[in-house]
Amino acid sequence: MTIYLNGEFMPITEAKVSVLDRGFIFGDGVYEVIPVYSRRAFRLPEHLKRLQHSLDGIKLPNPHDEAEWTRIVEEIIARNEGEDQYLYLHITRGAAKRDHAFPNPPVPPTVFAMSSPLPTPPAALLESGISCITAQDNRWLRCDIKAIALLPNVLLRQMAVDAGCAETILIRDDPVTGNDFMTEGAASNVFVVKNGSLLAPPKDNLMLPGITYDVILEIAAVNDIPCEVRRVMKEELFSADELLLTSSTKEVLAITHLDGLAVGNGKPGPMFAQLHELYQDFKHNVMRK
Ligand code: PDD
Repeated sequence: MTIYLNGEFMPITEAKVSVLDRGFIFGDGVYEVIPVYSRRAFRLPEHLKRLQHSLDGIKLPNPHDEAEWTRIVEEIIARNEGEDQYLYLHITRGAAKRDHAFPNPPVPPTVFAMSSPLPTPPAALLESGISCITAQDNRWLRCDIKAIALLPNVLLRQMAVDAGCAETILIRDDPVTGNDFMTEGAASNVFVVKNGSLLAPPKDNLMLPGITYDVILEIAAVNDIPCEVRRVMKEELFSADELLLTSSTKEVLAITHLDGLAVGNGKPGPMFAQLHELYQDFKHNVMRK
């Protein structure tokens, strides 16, 4: 695998980062995961826009403009295997003497990119759907930043794995009303389907604004699928006709069991079938342009 590190392309085995890197010491950095189809980065401008939002959120100047990022991304795709790839970008505040406050004067950021073959969900998973658990969302209040500090997400995802499930769906309680609502998955966004409508949580500070989430809402709008973007209550999660999970690597999956209970009839439903097909069409049409 060829990676990009601070201006150079090299085999991954040769890549070295200082132990004083603030990414290593503090988790002080942000990242992006971009799916690549037929060797073209899917929705690159949108991913780069979200990267800018994350960098702004941690007050780290963007080391590259869009043209430079595009060149790095294109080169890393060309130098790695697979028509479909899983591209990872990672920027930290660089290496400096350990101190919580930002280095002053600033030090050069660490800029890293790698890409590996993209394992899109196998047919069996599309047919069966996935099982999920729920857990209290114990993350910070800036979940809109795609921060590399992922310890809560790591522990929450592991809870699902330990329970023999694929993902943990996160629940917060409103401090004013005390009502529980759903935010997202540990590494995915979640939609509820009820009476033929899609319910999606709003893109606020409590969830990562998913690029796949946006694609699903765009596809729904074009195909006259009714949508409501608003807070989704825990009861709605448990009385859903269908539940859908989205992410760049999983695309769209049906959640067929939640906390051991069947969602609807326990099988992927018609909304999943329709959106999955439309998503595949969308992807292929974009890549043909
Ligand atoms: N994660 N929410 C969280 C917390 C995520 O980590 C992700 C993606 C998403 C979905 O966003 P998108 O549709 O843009 O991939 C939502 C990536 C895949 C990861 O960390 O590997």
